[in-house]
Amino acid sequence: MVSLTTYVSIALLGFAGLVRSYYTEPYRPQFHFSPQQNWMNDPNGLVYFNGTYHLFYQYNPNGTTWGFMSWGHAISTDLVHWKHLPVALECESDSNGNVLQMFFSGSAVVDVDNTSGFAVRVGTDRHGHAIYSKPMIAIYTSNYPTAHNQSNGAVIRAGQQSQSIAYSNDNGLTWTQYEGNPVIYGPPPQYADQYQQFRDPFVFWHEPTSKWIMIASLAMEHILLFYSSDNLTNWTLESQFGPANARFGQWECPSIFPLYLDGDMDTEKWVLLMGINPGGVITASGTQYIVGSFNGTTFVPDPTNVYDPTQVPANSTVFQDFEEISSTFEQIGWNSTGDFAGLGPQNASTVQVWNIEGYLGTGVLTTYLFGDIATGTITSPTFNITKNYISFLIAGGYYPYNPATAGTPQDNQVSFSLIVGGQVVYSQTGTDTEDLVWRSWDVTGYIGQQAYFLVTDVNTGPFAHLSVDEIIFSNSPKNEANWFDFGPDLYAAATYNGLSVPDRTVIGWMNNWGYGQNIPTSPWRSAMSIPRNLALKTINNIVKLVQQPVQELSSLYTSKLYSHWFSSLPSGETTINVPAPYNTQMKISVTFQRGSGTKFGVILRSNATDTQETVIGYDFLGQSVFVDRFNAGDNSFVTWQPNPFPGRYVATLATSGPITLNIFLDWSSVEVFDGTGQVAITSQIFPLDDSAMVKLFSVGGTTKNLAVSVNGIKSSWT
Ligand code: FRU
Repeated sequence: MVSLTTYVSIALLGFAGLVRSYYTEPYRPQFHFSPQQNWMNDPNGLVYFNGTYHLFYQYNPNGTTWGFMSWGHAISTDLVHWKHLPVALECESDSNGNVLQMFFSGSAVVDVDNTSGFAVRVGTDRHGHAIYSKPMIAIYTSNYPTAHNQSNGAVIRAGQQSQSIAYSNDNGLTWTQYEGNPVIYGPPPQYADQYQQFRDPFVFWHEPTSKWIMIASLAMEHILLFYSSDNLTNWTLESQFGPANARFGQWECPSIFPLYLDGDMDTEKWVLLMGINPGGVITASGTQYIVGSFNGTTFVPDPTNVYDPTQVPANSTVFQDFEEISSTFEQIGWNSTGDFAGLGPQNASTVQVWNIEGYLGTGVLTTYLFGDIATGTITSPTFNITKNYISFLIAGGYYPYNPATAGTPQDNQVSFSLIVGGQVVYSQTGTDTEDLVWRSWDVTGYIGQQAYFLVTDVNTGPFAHLSVDEIIFSNSPKNEANWFDFGPDLYAAATYNGLSVPDRTVIGWMNNWGYGQNIPTSPWRSAMSIPRNLALKTINNIVKLVQQPVQELSSLYTSKLYSHWFSSLPSGETTINVPAPYNTQMKISVTFQRGSGTKFGVILRSNATDTQETVIGYDFLGQSVFVDRFNAGDNSFVTWQPNPFPGRYVATLATSGPITLNIFLDWSSVEVFDGTGQVAITSQIFPLDDSAMVKLFSVGGTTKNLAVSVNGIKSSWT
């Protein structure tokens, strides 16, 4: 029987086909998943079963900002075309309108062996044996805003977060909450006070121990808890992991999964993936991974994958650790101007630097002196670059150096920069936290040259200060974390249950808590990243998690719209012709080698005067991929300071051979992957409609052996 809703949706589809108005609002993603309307955050319950990919997601059925959190639902057979389904788990309120239960992030499994006992009889086979359903189980965090007593006797405190389950015997369409919920009432006794910060269960079937395993986060403690279960209802605490690596803000949405190393089915490793907010690689939300082993009870990280913040690489030289707190900058050979004239390093315990786990010693350079109002510069003595990396600790507000405004009245930087040959070649600002974090610059390309550091604080606004410490020179980088993506817009990444090991597929929320609720889209807010296939590759003796868009995306590609070989691309800009509408929705691939120039790249969503542009490229001297969205379009939706939206994002990619960048442009995003998959940079952009030119550029000389090819990407929604 065809239901009324089916008729209605067929009618609507027909209508949409006629007027071509479906999914064509300004900025509407054409080949990314976005809800028809309203707010979305994390992907939840990713499970593949019987040829269908389920995508549940954090959803507010009532508005375009976070609230009334429920699980939205969509399905796909190819990870490319999605069909919207009704809300799966809807936020519950009492008769006075008090919210009793929100459905926070979690995962889903299909209980094929009916360990849970939730299966129901759905028929009889020809031998007269009963046929049972395969229950789909959602494991999620019950976030209870209001204190109340449940009918099953559970006493719920206001703000409590507990782990609960629900099951569906019709492939995720309708759901029943387990009557014994929550299945994990609260954190273990030693963390009892964390009952409001205990969430985001990821569950999977662990074949070797024949158990269900859950990993959940104590968000503020930076601790992940491992539980096991035979039946998904009774859970036993097995072990805990953390803090490790990026350990600031909150740890959210953890998951763990196996992958083969270098495609070798005999070498399995396990990957921990988690969100960190704030404290991500740019500001606010970020995603890190740790490779190690897992035996069904305990995760042990590979020693090469954990970074002790108090240890620096072997044979590093300390250039400046700012320990001389009774000296002036002049006395330690530095120079200071403005409010910093006559001053020197400060005692870290008396200034605005917190969480000093990673901090070595007592003194620190800071521009927080009489508050944020201090302005001026602090300059290092000149030195000769002799080692491959410069690393340092940095904390403070996010006010990046923007070459277009530096030195003008619009300049608002609070930054720490490296100057070589009179040019800023690297610059780092704070990540909007007071926590000192490690950052490294690859300076291999500048070895033998004279350089100096420049701290510039021209800003008196909120958070307009910077702290810098422990500047070291070394031949390997001082890592803080393995970042999964080097852009600002990839969070709460989750992977599919139900696929084979080599098919591990991840989807991330393509947004950032730093500004996500303000992005200028309507009637929906937020999209998911392109689904990406994951693998582990040994690159320069380090095991890296690599990623590429899923193969299925190519079903949306048009035939080649542009393809050209340049034995030598001249210095300057070269416009290429990509016909509309595909100049705003395309895959552009470039493979190239260094010529006499220092940078090569692609400019997208550009106007003729380059006042609007998204710049993607490779820096041969810094050996790094970059995405610059300083002038990408609208960022007026951020009305507070620091504005976390504009920026330039850099990821090291050391290589001597040809480099490939695959760039995926949609109406309000760009995702960049290098050919090896070790660099991903995901960034939202909100350009004007008529900024749609495509240009190539080479800086300071030529770029050699450049192959460019462009495919349009058709809409997956029409
Ligand atoms: C991450 C997160 C999760 C939580 C969910 C609530 O983005 O904060 O920790 O479960 O969002 O919507």
